[in-house]
Amino acid sequence: MYLTSEEELVLKGGFGAGAQQAMELLVAIGEAFDAKRMIPINRAHAASSGQEGDLYFVEMLAKGGATCKIKTTTNPISDFEYFQKIINLADEHEEASVAWKTKNYYKRIGAVMSLSCIPYLAENIPEFGEHVAFSESSATPYVNSVLGALTNRESIQTALAAGVIGKTPMYGLHLKQNRRGTVLVKVDADLKDGYTYSLLGLYLGKKIGNSIPVLVGISNRPTIDQYINLCAMMNTSGAIPMFHLPGFTPEAATVDQAFGGDSYQDKITVTDRELDETNEGLQTATGHIETVILGCPHYNLDQMSQLAGLLSGKKVRRDVSFWVNTSATTKLLAERSGYVETIEQSGAHVVVDTCIDMFCWNNLKGKTGMTDSPKCAYYRRFGPVKVGKMEECVAASVE
Ligand code: F3S
Repeated sequence: MYLTSEEELVLKGGFGAGAQQAMELLVAIGEAFDAKRMIPINRAHAASSGQEGDLYFVEMLAKGGATCKIKTTTNPISDFEYFQKIINLADEHEEASVAWKTKNYYKRIGAVMSLSCIPYLAENIPEFGEHVAFSESSATPYVNSVLGALTNRESIQTALAAGVIGKTPMYGLHLKQNRRGTVLVKVDADLKDGYTYSLLGLYLGKKIGNSIPVLVGISNRPTIDQYINLCAMMNTSGAIPMFHLPGFTPEAATVDQAFGGDSYQDKITVTDRELDETNEGLQTATGHIETVILGCPHYNLDQMSQLAGLLSGKKVRRDVSFWVNTSATTKLLAERSGYVETIEQSGAHVVVDTCIDMFCWNNLKGKTGMTDSPKCAYYRRFGPVKVGKMEECVAASVE
């Protein structure tokens, strides 16, 4: 891979050990994928997790004197203090300490502590045609498809390294020819809400792996949460880095453009039957639920408003613990709009900065849970699970 003289200098350690380690990683990835050169970027999103591998890498870079050269936002890490206030987490100190150290190293390296998995809605919004380095399941397809920016399917470490260097190797989805659709997906199903979009994403990820689908048959523009759910699931059950929805997503106005004038490699049809079967395959619990977790990915403002409407004037049963995950930015707006008060008056808790894949939920182990997110069900810290729409989660948990 061609490197400029400045890039060579970084690689030789001329800008410190931390920047050198970041550059070594980017060059290794670039060479593995036959990148011709590096490309400058202005933003990155590291899907930080607050777990050992994450701590290892950010600590190494920070101790080597690295700092983020460009805006680099962070995923949820934990909100240990909040949980300590309301439940007993006394035996969780080791994981808490890993999470705290990780957070502090991200701060030290100059990352933006957004601690959210939907940064592309508020804290870090790429423009159409902009090259970026975004990790996180919903973020990569959302940024590529809905916003029309260009990112590879990054890891925490490659996104952080790109944030430190301000560059990423130019390969994969940074090249126009690799952004063409490969599979035509005829959607002949009733996509009525965010949950059915989750099911569609889940089905597609399993069915077509890492292909790029071109969706036809969807006549209404998806809402933001429908797009987010589709993206999160197609890049969790599979590794779909982007999709085209001609007429709505910005990169290709027609099906022909979406395939770049080529013919597709495969064609599938998705009907209500496939979505119903996908839904049935998620259910591992029956009967009484003990906990509800919403907000995976983090709820946006529209979802907070919808949830407040559903919980208004109702009480969550005493034997059910009800949790709503969101970002700090969304919570602030939801507080100002009165949604948080309404949600909390019902007995539900609104939490920020954390995610279901974190130690602070370990107290739910073995409990029967319900969620509107197949991804949450996959990462669940609780036991058997029911998965359904937001209104079904509310109906199952109120008196
Ligand atoms: Fe976000 Fe964690 Fe779910 S990062 S998408 S809340 S598993």
